[in-house]
Amino acid sequence: MSQSVQHPVLSGKKALVTGIANGHSIAYGCAKAFHEVGADLAITYADEKARPYVEPLAKDLEAPIFMPFNVSKREELEAVFERIASEWGELDILAHSVAWAPKSDLQGGLLNCSAEGFAAAMDISCHSFVRMARLAAPLMKHGGSMFAMSYYGANKVVPNYNVMGPVKAALEACARYLAYELGPQQIRVHAVSPGPLKTRAASGLRDFDVLLTQAAERAPLGELVDIMDVGFTCAYLATPYARRLSGETLYVDGGVHIMA
Ligand SMILES: NC(=O)c1ccc[n+]([C@@H]2O[C@H](COP(=O)([O-])OP(=O)(O)OC[C@H]3O[C@@H](n4cnc5c(N)ncnc54)[C@H](O)[C@@H]3O)[C@@H](O)[C@H]2O)c1
Repeated sequence: MSQSVQHPVLSGKKALVTGIANGHSIAYGCAKAFHEVGADLAITYADEKARPYVEPLAKDLEAPIFMPFNVSKREELEAVFERIASEWGELDILAHSVAWAPKSDLQGGLLNCSAEGFAAAMDISCHSFVRMARLAAPLMKHGGSMFAMSYYGANKVVPNYNVMGPVKAALEACARYLAYELGPQQIRVHAVSPGPLKTRAASGLRDFDVLLTQAAERAPLGELVDIMDVGFTCAYLATPYARRLSGETLYVDGGVHIMA
């Protein structure tokens, strides 16, 4: 997509984007879209191994805040929000684009998923959103918006999605409950559900290429989505144009989800 938005509709807004691993990451599409419409960015990376891939992207997007953030490390979670509080004093947008499950638990089918693997997948891919929301909300002094990335496999059975199906179902439910609890503060919370995209996380799923082919064939719009499609959807949701939307799961999939 080569679309460029001229009107800086999020000018001066402050956005925290988590989950960039590289230039193919959905989170990168979000960061790029927020930047294109004027937002200032805080960008995090999971660990020192990820840093060399993420740092040039953060520089390119002129992110004034660039920090390590493994969602399993409470001190890193707190450090990110302390830095945002001290540097910006407020936050408008939170994008959660993080998922992980141990490979053996992800690839073995739900019946064979261990309790430990299930708990780790749920904690990293789902409850981390709740933890972030808890610290982000007090900084959203004039309202705000929060997003977490889900997938169609939350609601329908997608072969090989396995444990991530129940995890994403929980994530979508969390978005609804957070939308309810944070609505009085004018904070809107959504799950965004992209169609399949060739990213590092997706490479952990068996037969992912089949999902890509099927999505392209079944999409009423006739093609796969790209990370900017997802990013601009999140950017739109963060604008006042979407101020009465909350608690939704929005599909950015070229219409695949409407098909029988
Ligand atoms: N690629 C797809 O087809 C697709 C479709 C729908 C939804 N999603 C979802 O989009 C989100 C982003 O995935 P992606 O496809 O862009 O892949 P990706 O690999 O680019 O992003 C996944 C990110 O999760 C991060 N992460 C994993 N464990 C972490 C931890 N403990 N702490 C901090 N970060 C951690 C990784 O570092 C990486 O940046 C995920 O929630 C994924 O489930 C992906």
